[in-house]
Amino acid sequence: MTTSTPDSSEGKPYSGPSSSAPSDPTARQARKPISLPRLRDMRERGEKIAMLTAYDATFAAAADAAGVDCILVGDSLGMVCQGLSSTVAVSLETMRHHTDAVARGLRRANATAWLIADLPFGSYHESREQALRSAVVLMQAGAHMVKLEGGGWTHDTVRFLVERGVPVCAHLGLTPQTVHALGGYRVQGRDDEAARVMREHALALQDAGASLLVLEMVPAALSSSLTAELAHCHTIGIGAGSGTAGQVLVMHDMLGLNLGRMPRFVRDFMQGQPSIQAAMAAYVQAVKSGEFPNDAQHAW
Ligand code: KIV
Repeated sequence: MTTSTPDSSEGKPYSGPSSSAPSDPTARQARKPISLPRLRDMRERGEKIAMLTAYDATFAAAADAAGVDCILVGDSLGMVCQGLSSTVAVSLETMRHHTDAVARGLRRANATAWLIADLPFGSYHESREQALRSAVVLMQAGAHMVKLEGGGWTHDTVRFLVERGVPVCAHLGLTPQTVHALGGYRVQGRDDEAARVMREHALALQDAGASLLVLEMVPAALSSSLTAELAHCHTIGIGAGSGTAGQVLVMHDMLGLNLGRMPRFVRDFMQGQPSIQAAMAAYVQAVKSGEFPNDAQHAW
């Protein structure tokens, strides 16, 4: 991402704040829009899926221009944008607001990333009907897919949404919305029983129609074996080792910005890069080449 001003635009006409949007139109035009069939093709070809969070129009456009395949409007925005201590208090209206901004940024940049939005805590827990109403709010704001956390009780909800045309990304392992029930931000699925339950939930979520599954802070060996078992649901790891079908990081973390302690599974991609967009492109390249994550350093 550049930070062009009228003085620094190197001869290009200044077009207002949008001139800070991605600067490589040829690369942008070369990529076809990412869709569920294209994600499946990537998986079949063994091409890793690169996902990043974004919460506003300009950063979303920069991530798209950097080649990020999937942009997640994560409820992590509660922590990185709103300064909350967890994602628990993020509202559906806040998620709608940011999803709308990200979608608008992508449309202005004629961009191609697959856009996923988090259903926040409390917006899908009461009933399948409540989940559908909440999903409709995010889809009408521009999301292509919604993400929800947890296994077991969520399976019926996932099926209900998918049958009604809402693509779903599930999320197992460390599920930040239930951090208080889990007793902290800690690795999940470490013992045999926890691994067995996670496997059961993952297979049931695939059966219910989930197309993607985020695995957060899950031992690398477990996430690799889940990935091998899930032929139709592509795993996206965060702190889950290199064996998943793709990777996701919180954008602020990978740019080296964190109000607290940087999690072990993060690499600062800003180091040595001249711009934010270049850092994002380095992340995409490292994910696609398999160079990130490094299991010895970023996984359990
Ligand atoms: O909210 C979020 O950013 C997420 C990612 C950490 C996967 O759920």
